[in-house]
Amino acid sequence: MHMYDELSGKQPKILIPEIKVQARVTELAQEINQDYRGKEITAVCILKGSFIFFADLIRQLDIPITCEFLGVSSYANKMVSSGEVKVTLDINEPLENKHVIVFEDIVDSGLTLNYITNSLKTRKPASLKSCVLLLKPECLKTQVDIDYLGFKIGKEFVVGYGIDFSGKFRGLPYLAYLEHDH
Ligand code: IMP
Ligand code: MG
Repeated sequence: MHMYDELSGKQPKILIPEIKVQARVTELAQEINQDYRGKEITAVCILKGSFIFFADLIRQLDIPITCEFLGVSSYANKMVSSGEVKVTLDINEPLENKHVIVFEDIVDSGLTLNYITNSLKTRKPASLKSCVLLLKPECLKTQVDIDYLGFKIGKEFVVGYGIDFSGKFRGLPYLAYLEHDH
């Protein structure tokens, strides 16, 4: 049985309303604009969950950017995440000597982001930073480097604003959670 089976059929409840998500995304974009003033960046969107976060944030950057898309999916049906991810869409452009920022929706155990950053480091970027919308600090199983963070949240299962449960709910304009039975 999948660990999230009990969430099927649950209605999403608002966790962070649209206006707060948008305000925080604007702040993150302003930080990045300041930190990278005079530089050019390669912005890497981790598909699929980050696509809305990425689209909203990069439209507020006033530095020159190139967009790249890296598709990953966690190996399903594993009781314990190994952090091993399947690359479903790779970046074909060289990242060597580029200032790379990776945009990720959620860091839970931290294994996925670590896997991604370790694999991008082998392409020898000039610098590599991460921008993460949501962090679940109580779920971390490894040390992760997050340079820009939207929100710290609890252990709840999040959907909306690009993030799915079984492929659903990505179109919600706010961040929501699916409640476990008590
Ligand atoms: P990790 O445990 O940090 O490796 O997280 C792996 C992946 O699980 C993340 O990139 C998300 O795509 C997904 N994930 C973690 N928590 C949630 C959640 O609350 N809702 C939807 N997807 C999640
Ligand atoms: Mg993801």
